[in-house]
Amino acid sequence: ANRSNNAKLVLLGDAGAGKSSLVLRFVKNQFIEFQESTIGAAFFSQTLSVDDASVKFDIWDTAGQERYHSLAPMYYRGAAAAIIVYDITNQASFDRAKKWVQELLVQGSPSTIMALAGNKADILDARRVSEAQRYALDNGLLFMETSAKTAMNQRSSFKANQHKALQE
Ligand code: GTP
Ligand code: MG
Repeated sequence: ANRSNNAKLVLLGDAGAGKSSLVLRFVKNQFIEFQESTIGAAFFSQTLSVDDASVKFDIWDTAGQERYHSLAPMYYRGAAAAIIVYDITNQASFDRAKKWVQELLVQGSPSTIMALAGNKADILDARRVSEAQRYALDNGLLFMETSAKTAMNQRSSFKANQHKALQE
């Protein structure tokens, strides 16, 4: 690789949306049916190469439970990208995702790229959220439906952020 970069990436979203599962799929290509709820936050590092560039991602997988909310600014401060995850089968998780978007718009850094990920797209017949793409468009967010379970789009959701981060 001719170029190498570091990029801090943070995952935010409701408890149970699948943040840890997406990270586990990304870094180890694994899925765990009974993934434990994250306490505080978990850190992962992963290097990706695209074309002649490589990016070392420093990934903060935050805890979605409300009691950890006050910790979040430590993890999104200075982030190149934030992936805000909701569960397409859970309307409350989408409402929570919108709150994260608003918080980042107000308190986050303007240079942080925001992506909205509608996870659990493998369980389409239980879909409850359909307005997310429109919301993402209206708010200038990248948007993608993902499945940590089947691996659908999860790599591209990280890579999209890498491409954007490299353009900075
Ligand atoms: P917190 O750590 O509490 O904030 O939750 P989280 O967002 O990290 O969710 P987690 O990755 O722990 O996933 C919650 C549950 O959803 C687990 O039982 C996962 O197996 C399941 N899950 C995660 N992603 C998917 C997916 O894409 N499809 C399906 N069917 N289940 C998923
Ligand atoms: Mg977790």
